[in-house]
Amino acid sequence: MEQNPPRLDPAIFTFPNRILFGEGARFSLGLELSRVGVNRPLVVTDPGVLKAGLVDAVLGGITSSVVFDRVQPNPTEDDVLAGLDQYRAAKCDGLVAIGGGSPIDAAKGIRLLVTHSGRLVDYDLTAGKSDLIRPDMPPMAAIPTTAGTGSESGRAALIQLPQNQRKTAVLSQYLLPTFALCDPELTRGLSPVLTAATGMDALSHCIESYLSITIHPICDGIAVEGLRQLSKGIETAVRDGSNAKARSAAMMGALLGGISFHKGLGVVHSLSHALGHTGRAHHGTLNAILLPHALRFNREAAGARMADLAGRIGLGRGEDAAGHLITLVELLLARLPLPRRLGAIDGLERTAIPDYARLAMIDHCHRTNPQKCDQHALEDLLDRAW
Ligand SMILES: [Fe+2]
Repeated sequence: MEQNPPRLDPAIFTFPNRILFGEGARFSLGLELSRVGVNRPLVVTDPGVLKAGLVDAVLGGITSSVVFDRVQPNPTEDDVLAGLDQYRAAKCDGLVAIGGGSPIDAAKGIRLLVTHSGRLVDYDLTAGKSDLIRPDMPPMAAIPTTAGTGSESGRAALIQLPQNQRKTAVLSQYLLPTFALCDPELTRGLSPVLTAATGMDALSHCIESYLSITIHPICDGIAVEGLRQLSKGIETAVRDGSNAKARSAAMMGALLGGISFHKGLGVVHSLSHALGHTGRAHHGTLNAILLPHALRFNREAAGARMADLAGRIGLGRGEDAAGHLITLVELLLARLPLPRRLGAIDGLERTAIPDYARLAMIDHCHRTNPQKCDQHALEDLLDRAW
């Protein structure tokens, strides 16, 4: 053995949380909370989820809970601090997040600050501070009402912070929800547009993580199966929201996508985090627009890997298979009710492309992107997607 080997970051394998998956999984909430000793949970959600009746559908007879419903899309630190105040005022002893990525991420932020001093910026992943996150946090349940974010099986929370003016990740294996209840019935009422946008977020997790430069064969296998489920499920769920099989496939694909990106993501997510920092642009919609451009950008560096992924989901083998993967994404997007250009998104300014690219360069996700990124390349990519 060499005495002074070159220093390489080791691959890190951690596996996810307790997950109950299937129609009716939500009815296990009471039992699961009692298993982890939670008597008075703070329910973290948003006004849309509450109005859709999904909080009632989940809570049923659990009367001891306190509902905090003020999480905004692309949640802010103010959302987290308001939830923290309510958690303390009501003397809660755990959290139940019900919703898409925003309530689940906000709940992770609240959970962190219940036991950790300072503000979220003190645990910023990009600044190398997420290692300060300890396991002593209250239990948390995640109950997704979309099939997209994968935050129910992910370690990160993305919150807009005022101190650094960007959508900031705090990330730790200790932030994995204590358990997740994945009940596809909760997504039955989701509109075709949101079904498509959240589904494309999940699909981009599977593809970006598979192409990521990190070594993680466990996540690779999970990404392949996630992509398989999503390529079956998204389009049918958009066309027929009551199709139980498609809703189940989409939710399983999203869950698997959330696990697969323990391996890291890529330039799609660095850019969509930057574009989503201000305004209310939907994360999944941004990813859907960016994904085909990012695949073409990555083809030179990751063509063989793209061909390998295409082969694994039955798109053929050989050099052309990388192109088949791009075609699959293009054809799927053509059939979904989503905008195809960034210029169609309210609140985004083409003149701000250099600012978006600068913010994306600070984001952590492109560090694992196969093609090396710089400011100029990211500006060019955004320009192509405009
Ligand atoms: Fe995402």
